Amino acid sequence: MKQLLVKNIGMLATPEGKDARRGADQGQIRLLQDAYVLMTDGRITEVGTGDKTVPGAEVLDAGGALVTPGLVDAHTHLIFGGWRQNELGLKLHGASYLDILSMGGGILSTVNATRAATENELYDKAKEALDEMLSLGITTVEAKSGYGLDMDTELKQLRVIRRLNEEHPMDLVPTFLGAHAVPKEYKEDRAGYIRLLCEEVIPAVAREGLAEFCDVFCETGVFSAEESKAILEAGKKWGLIPKIHADEIDPIGGSQLTAQVGAISAEHLIVCPPEGIAAMAKAGTVACCLPATSFYLGSTFAPVRDMVNAGVPVAMATDFNPGSCPSLNMQFVINLGCLKYRLTPEEVLTAVTLNAAAAINRADSIGSLEPGKLGDLVIWNAPDLNYICYRMGSNLVKTVIKKGHIL
Ligand code: NIG
Ligand code: FE
Repeated sequence: MKQLLVKNIGMLATPEGKDARRGADQGQIRLLQDAYVLMTDGRITEVGTGDKTVPGAEVLDAGGALVTPGLVDAHTHLIFGGWRQNELGLKLHGASYLDILSMGGGILSTVNATRAATENELYDKAKEALDEMLSLGITTVEAKSGYGLDMDTELKQLRVIRRLNEEHPMDLVPTFLGAHAVPKEYKEDRAGYIRLLCEEVIPAVAREGLAEFCDVFCETGVFSAEESKAILEAGKKWGLIPKIHADEIDPIGGSQLTAQVGAISAEHLIVCPPEGIAAMAKAGTVACCLPATSFYLGSTFAPVRDMVNAGVPVAMATDFNPGSCPSLNMQFVINLGCLKYRLTPEEVLTAVTLNAAAAINRADSIGSLEPGKLGDLVIWNAPDLNYICYRMGSNLVKTVIKKGHIL
């Protein structure tokens, strides 16, 4: 039996429960002063206050600092070849995200680089990103395919995710996103590409057990709501839980689709209409909002306060990818959650821990500091929760603990 006792915690801040928190509950968190957390064989076994001694346990003194659950990044496009710094100049000269994509750049140029990369190259590159994410306080990451758009490369990306999950301390949760764009080979045959996804690639992914979720980019010039529905239904037949990139640039019905297909989460939602918010509230879908992408695209910010008021649980994630968000910094996301979404620090904490865990079907095992959950936590160079929401641009992490191990 291996035990770790983190004591002398000045402020322990955590949401509570095994489900997403919505409405007023999103801001109801547990705050403890002079607290401790005891972990046994990787899981939390006790959380309490005051002095504590446990014979035989390793002891870590938090020095009066803030402790929170490890951050959960519930939306990343972690596995990709190359970068796209050349697009910065195009953007500065006025090209929009969809302009660049329609010229064969954007996602499609990353597809070329990802197809050309070996499995080991993709592994090494993503490993570096995961190391950085851990150092920034992230302890679980969702990772999507979607830069292959053919059978071999989509499987290659998902196998890299599986290997990283086995070999890296980070926990990874895999999502199949073959419907990220229509590849150039199918430019004149969209229906043919959708058939390939539904009849060949999704079954292959499911047979190999390579993904838990199926996602689609429901967007003008990418996949319509009707096409997205067909793909997500095909995924469901093979046991893949639906997720939707919805209302990122144009509101073409993606968020309304959540109730029709029973999506666990909808992502982006920058221009989500009231009907979409109502649909998510009805379906119990988690709104996974990505403020660093709004920032990077120079667009507006998702109507997050309306979502909270309507009883939609809100999560936040980075959307780390080489195009619309070349950042993997959840601490920046935390800043933007307060400053742009106008969420309170308590609502933000829930958004990046428990609700993010719910968006990837992990709310029963991570996202809060409670007995039974994994010993994933962050000790911050900060005295309280307000401080990490307020300071910007520095890495405020002091120590990361993953499954009861000090990293
Ligand atoms: O979530 N919107 C679609 N996919 C990503 C961007 C991917 C890319 O530009 O490479 C996103 O923003
Ligand atoms: Fe995305």
